[in-house]
Amino acid sequence: MKITNDFSIGPYMTFDQSKELPIHSWFWYKEGFSPELVKWAIASEGKNKNDNAPVPERLLDPFCGVGTSLLAAKEKGMFAKGVDASDLAAFVSKTKTRNYSSRDIEMAKEFSASIFAESRPPAPLQWEFELFNPAAAFPKRNLNDIMFLRERIEYLEPGPRSLLLLALLSVLPQASLVIKDGGVLKISKEKSAMPLKDAFRRKVKRMVADLEAKNETNAPANPGQNAAPEPEVFLGDARAMGFPDDSEDIIVTSPPYLNNIDYSKIYGMELSLLAMSKAAAEEVRLRSVRSFIGRKMRVQEMPVEVGEIGERIPIIGTYFADMEGAIKEMHRVLCPGSCAYVNVSNSVIHETHVLVDEVFAEMALRIGFSDVEIVVGAERIADVKPQKVRTRESVVIMRK
Ligand SMILES: C[S@@+](CC[C@H](N)C(=O)[O-])C[C@H]1O[C@@H](n2cnc3c(N)ncnc32)[C@H](O)[C@@H]1O
Repeated sequence: MKITNDFSIGPYMTFDQSKELPIHSWFWYKEGFSPELVKWAIASEGKNKNDNAPVPERLLDPFCGVGTSLLAAKEKGMFAKGVDASDLAAFVSKTKTRNYSSRDIEMAKEFSASIFAESRPPAPLQWEFELFNPAAAFPKRNLNDIMFLRERIEYLEPGPRSLLLLALLSVLPQASLVIKDGGVLKISKEKSAMPLKDAFRRKVKRMVADLEAKNETNAPANPGQNAAPEPEVFLGDARAMGFPDDSEDIIVTSPPYLNNIDYSKIYGMELSLLAMSKAAAEEVRLRSVRSFIGRKMRVQEMPVEVGEIGERIPIIGTYFADMEGAIKEMHRVLCPGSCAYVNVSNSVIHETHVLVDEVFAEMALRIGFSDVEIVVGAERIADVKPQKVRTRESVVIMRK
């Protein structure tokens, strides 16, 4: 197995650049990457293939999160498909990648400018989420505004409805008394919540500006010419995507890291307001790779590459067992000769350093990939008591 360094891609492995980019920045997703990583993978795929091979036309992201790779592929005119286990991630991906007409944009603007002038009876909706009572998590005025908007947005046409609902979900953290502390949410007495109205209007204004700028740049010379194809987004499980065998030209993805982060909890407020159901979080957990919960596994159930730590620390065994299913599925749907670019981070869990990239690479070879390379993009020092170890983030390139 070849391991090389390319530290130029390190900054692309976090959401930092996406936070500043039009459309990519619409929903803050700490676990996301930057579209530059996707562009790098597409360019590498072109270079690695023989001269006669066609450039990739169809991209798949089986853990698409908030749609970074789908949007990057769309911007390149490629066909893209994404799958995510979370209703929230699937909704954000879909909303960021659809084509909006000028009428959609106008309706969103008009709604945001006039809605708070309306007189309002109390919204009949009930919002519950697993971790807190919303009444404790928001100042009263903000909670009233949230429920009012959530109800009104529902009556709109699909384009403006998606835009405005995304705007509302994305400002919930700012308008709440909740802080994200590592992998958990806490109510903080010190936090001052921004008025929901202001945060919402400001967000809609920014989103509209992004779309207007994009529509202007893309205005076809011939009216009637097609806009870029909209990616398809599916709520589902990367281990059983149901797409045909040998159908994808390139996979670019970043599965959950082995780090105890439960997406259904840290984005629980946004998820439950989207679904208007407290049960949504549990449903997401059932579909998700178990990167945050482990049950004791028998050695026979565990991928052979994991070794005794999978037994000693159950979360490690369950994580790799789930990821083996996802790597098998990636292998099945890729065209022969094509690659999956899988962004991973090695982990320190229960004071044990786990070489996630090497385990993925060994599993990929056993599953049937013909060639695997690890490209290290960033290194950091981690405390693995009693000593410190150098750990890393990398892209595992698996060629079918
Ligand atoms: C690291 S994030 C991906 C971020 C993405 N690259 C982006 O830029 O937004 C991993 C995603 O995998 C999703 N996920 C977890 N288990 C899954 C499964 N079994 N199938 C599909 N998606 C899953 C999570 O909901 C999360 O959105």
